[in-house]
Amino acid sequence: MSERRFDVWTAGDAYERYMGRWSRLVADEFVRWLACPPEARWLDVGCGSGALTSTVAVRCRPRALLGVERSAGFAATARASAPPPTCVAVADAQALPVGDAVFDVAVSGLVLNFLPAPGVALAEAVRGVRPGGVVAAYVWDYAEGMGFLRHFWAAATTVDPSADAHDEGRRFPLCRPSALRTLWSEAGLTEVTVAPIEIPTLFAHFDDLWTPFLSGQGPAPGHVAALSPDRREDLRRTLRARVPTRADGTIPLTARAWAVRGRKATTSSRGAGRTQR
Ligand SMILES: C[S@@+](CC[C@H](N)C(=O)[O-])C[C@H]1O[C@@H](n2cnc3c(N)ncnc32)[C@H](O)[C@@H]1O
Repeated sequence: MSERRFDVWTAGDAYERYMGRWSRLVADEFVRWLACPPEARWLDVGCGSGALTSTVAVRCRPRALLGVERSAGFAATARASAPPPTCVAVADAQALPVGDAVFDVAVSGLVLNFLPAPGVALAEAVRGVRPGGVVAAYVWDYAEGMGFLRHFWAAATTVDPSADAHDEGRRFPLCRPSALRTLWSEAGLTEVTVAPIEIPTLFAHFDDLWTPFLSGQGPAPGHVAALSPDRREDLRRTLRARVPTRADGTIPLTARAWAVRGRKATTSSRGAGRTQR
């Protein structure tokens, strides 16, 4: 059976405890990096429970802001949490319910690796943005920079070597800068730039790290949900033994995301030099 069976996203509240709290910290740095002017029309693709959407609504003074999300449960959480002018539509990123060239900025946080055809979704985002507009995204550095997930998968494969096949660091090719740069350039975007965003992920105690893995939301919690109670307890103990824990019980880790941005070509910029490093 496909590893995608573990990629469950349905319950916004559970996601918030697992990943949303960290996604919000990255979203903050990401919109600062984009530095888009106020009064822009924004599209957030795969908005989930609204981590990036809320940040745009609060920090960027948008004229319009549409979140698009496939899961009705996540969309409901985003609707309830993101302030005006946010609207949220339940739809597929690969067939956006938007007209051509109606947005100034299209963004997407932590979504690309969960799409069967990320290039199709990117083409849809490019279609929705006006010439000269910005298309940008971020993804976790699953392979190297995502501290608590690296510890999780190391513990999971210690308990059961076959868990390796579920590790996002192996499964997801779009977690490295070169792959993102290529995807953006091949979509015809200009001024393509990739940058790291690193955030602290400080866990108050071991349960603060472990309990969100029991939520069933996303690949690692999906893996936990499929384990027998005994195996789950082995994993919990193995993970506890390997994470760096301070005397006060806190667990200080960091998480890195890769952000990518590009500009939709205008008639005059087509054919001009494409990639910046
Ligand atoms: C890891 S979550 C990220 C959510 C949010 N953007 C954030 O930064 O916290 C991935 C999201 O992508 C959504 N998603 C996956 N495939 C999708 C698709 N084909 N169309 C729209 N949304 C999709 C999932 O439902 C989930 O909400």
